[in-house]
Amino acid sequence: MCKSQLIPGNRSFNREELAQLLANDRNEQDALFTLAASIKEASVGNIVYFRGLIEFSNLCSKDCLYCGIRKSNVLAQRYNLSDREIVDAALYAHQQNYASLVLQSGELESRSFTERIIRVLDTIHRETRGELRITLSLGEQSEDTYRAWNDHGAHRYLLRIETSNPELYGKLHPEDSRHGFSRRIKALASLKKIGYQTGTGVMIGLPFQTFEDLADDLLFMQDFGIDMVGMGPYIEHSETPLYAYRRQLIPLRERLYLSLRMVALLRILMPDINIAAATALQAIEKMGREKAIRVGANVIMPNITPGIYRDNYKLYDNKPCTDENAEDCTSCLQARIAMTNHAIGFGNWGDSKFFTDRMR
Ligand code: 5AD
Ligand code: FES
Repeated sequence: MCKSQLIPGNRSFNREELAQLLANDRNEQDALFTLAASIKEASVGNIVYFRGLIEFSNLCSKDCLYCGIRKSNVLAQRYNLSDREIVDAALYAHQQNYASLVLQSGELESRSFTERIIRVLDTIHRETRGELRITLSLGEQSEDTYRAWNDHGAHRYLLRIETSNPELYGKLHPEDSRHGFSRRIKALASLKKIGYQTGTGVMIGLPFQTFEDLADDLLFMQDFGIDMVGMGPYIEHSETPLYAYRRQLIPLRERLYLSLRMVALLRILMPDINIAAATALQAIEKMGREKAIRVGANVIMPNITPGIYRDNYKLYDNKPCTDENAEDCTSCLQARIAMTNHAIGFGNWGDSKFFTDRMR
C-alpha cells in the first residue's frame, strides 16, 4: 500500500483503502497508530472520560448466536439487581466523580420494564441532583419507550449494530423478525431522531467476517453520523451456537490488533466523536483497553456492578475483573491510565464533541 495514504490531512479513505489498512503489516500499523494518536490529541485532547458501568441484569429475551446471556443458555446464572442496588451503584459513581453512568442489561421489552427504567432514572437524578449523565444500553425498544426514557433524563443510548453487513448479521442471529437487521437499523435511527447522543459498534474478528465488512462498518458509522462508538473483539463463548465456528477465527492476539486498527481508523475518519475502549479488549490482554486509549479511544467504562453479580454477566469467556470489587477495579484503572499520558476527566460529562456541534 502507498504510504502517502497515511499523510496527516488525508482523512477520507474509500472502502478498498480501509480494507487494506485493516489488513496492514506491522510498519504501516505503527504509522496508523501514530497518526490516530495525533489526530485525537488535536481534536478531543488526551483526556479519558469514565462511565460507571452497571450491568444490572442478565435476563434476556433474545437469542443472539454469539452471546453468553442468550435466553437458551440454561447454564447462565440469572440475576436482577434491585432498584436500590442500582441506585446505590449510581451513587458510588457520583461519589467517585465519574459524572456519567451506563445502565446495561439483557434485552426485555415490556411495559413493566419500561416503567422500571423510568423509576430508576427518576431516583438516580433525584439522589444526585441531576449531576450524572446517564447512558442506556438496553437493546431494541419501541420509539415510544425510547422517547419516555429520554424524557426522564437518559441522554445517551448505545445500540451496537454488531455488523453493517445484513448477510453476516443474519448468520449471527436467529431467523425471526425480532432478530432482523432492518429492525436494528430502524431502532438506531429512532434514537438519533429523538435526540439521543447515539452510540453504536460492531464486533471484530467474527467468523465469516472480511476486512471489507469491517471497512463497511467504519463507513456506515461515518455516513450515519454516529456520536459515540464502542467496538471490540468477538470472543467465543462455549455455551453458544457460534462456538462451533471457533476454528475459523483468527488468533486472539490478531483480533486485539485488528480491533486497535479499527479504533485508529475510526478516530481518523471521525476525529471528534467519543470512542470507548471496549472491555473485551481486556479479556485478551490486561492492558488491552489502555492500548486502545493510546491509538484513539477516549472513554473507559469501569465496571461498578456489585461484585457478587459480576461473574454472571458473561457475554463471552474469560471476562476480566469479575472477581474483584468495584473499588479495586477503579483504582487499578486509574493507575493504568496514568501510564498512558492521559488525564482523567473527573467531574466532566465528556459529551461527544461531534454531538454538541451537530446540535448547535
Ligand atoms: N464477544 C464479544 N462481544 C460480545 N457481545 C456479546 N457477545 C459477545 C461476544 N461473544 C457484545 C455485543 C453486544 C454487547 C453488549 O456485547 O456487541 O452488543
Ligand atoms: Fe440478549 Fe442478544 S442475546 S440481546
